[in-house]
Amino acid sequence: MKLSGKRVLVTGAAGFIGSHVSDRLADGNELLLVDDFSTGARENLEAISALANVRVEEADIRDRERMLALCEGIDVVLHLAVSCLRTSLGAPESSHDVNAGGTLSVCLAAREREVERFVYVSSSEVYGSAETVPMSESHPCRPTTVYGASKLAGEAYALAFWRTYGMAVSVVRPFNTYGPREPWRGARAEVIPRFVLQLLAGQAPVIFGSGAQTRDFTFVEDTASGIVAAAECDALVGDVVNVGCGREASVAFIAERLAQIIGRENLAPEYAAPRPGDVDRHYADVGKAKTLFGYEPRTELEAGLERTVDWFRDRNITVPAEGFGAPNW
Ligand SMILES: NC(=O)c1ccc[n+]([C@@H]2O[C@H](COP(=O)([O-])OP(=O)(O)OC[C@H]3O[C@@H](n4cnc5c(N)ncnc54)[C@H](O)[C@@H]3O)[C@@H](O)[C@H]2O)c1
Repeated sequence: MKLSGKRVLVTGAAGFIGSHVSDRLADGNELLLVDDFSTGARENLEAISALANVRVEEADIRDRERMLALCEGIDVVLHLAVSCLRTSLGAPESSHDVNAGGTLSVCLAAREREVERFVYVSSSEVYGSAETVPMSESHPCRPTTVYGASKLAGEAYALAFWRTYGMAVSVVRPFNTYGPREPWRGARAEVIPRFVLQLLAGQAPVIFGSGAQTRDFTFVEDTASGIVAAAECDALVGDVVNVGCGREASVAFIAERLAQIIGRENLAPEYAAPRPGDVDRHYADVGKAKTLFGYEPRTELEAGLERTVDWFRDRNITVPAEGFGAPNW
């Protein structure tokens, strides 16, 4: 299936990855961008919402009637709306409500409207910490957090709609994604934006835990292109695929590289108590995505970090006046 000339509904479109996926699809499709703007930013949709083929709707994915109405006439659903991991640590019910319950709600609407394809954007958090590396799709799923568990529940619901009702469902598991528009405000600020803003302000980057924990940090353009290619891949229907960079980097290494890029090598990191449920190790095997749809991550970590720093610098974004707040766990 080619994503061209389609009517595509994107949930979580005002979020970090959803807005990049939407940008990628705007040329040649009719887009319905759905978000409740609970955490997503209207500014992420500023340029795209001006296009004639793009409509933005404020809606909660848990609102079944609303989702049913919005799915009318839709060919493809890309489901990215989420209550994030950091929120889940202090408010685990929100993960269950939005990530599991909300996914069921979107699946029900999509099935009733007989969409041609449904793509569930899951997460590498469903695996828990690496037991073997690199982590292929057959790695055991033992999530450490309620967030990871709720993302796995969403996968299970979506794939059940394929097995029970024949709805054409594909599942993508992105690894940690970074780049322009990544959440940087308050307690939801992610690790790379935190380090960037702390270093730009002349503050030491604060590492939760030892810093030895690793992630497969993937530049957002690669994640978005992987999601779109996965959506187009007929052979992926009923199946799951990793989208990552295929390179492991520790959090301490990221702090060190960013300090070099920003010219603050003198600022040694400070250490705070580890985040509960924090995964020790993530390192993706992206061989299946390469074989199935020719996926190729294009942005090297160093180049991606430089582009991320430039993005924050160009916008004069600084550490929020209230800081990042106390940890919410
Ligand atoms: N960012 C990462 O590193 C990463 C890694 C792996 C997987 N993912 C997955 O990618 C997807 C997008 O993640 P992101 O980082 O862009 O998240 P994000 O938090 O930036 O965006 C999520 C969006 O969902 C919206 N939303 C929340 N609850 C909603 C509701 N009830 N109804 C409608 N909209 C709602 C928010 O307003 C926000 O705009 C998620 O499914 C996430 O699990 C992200």
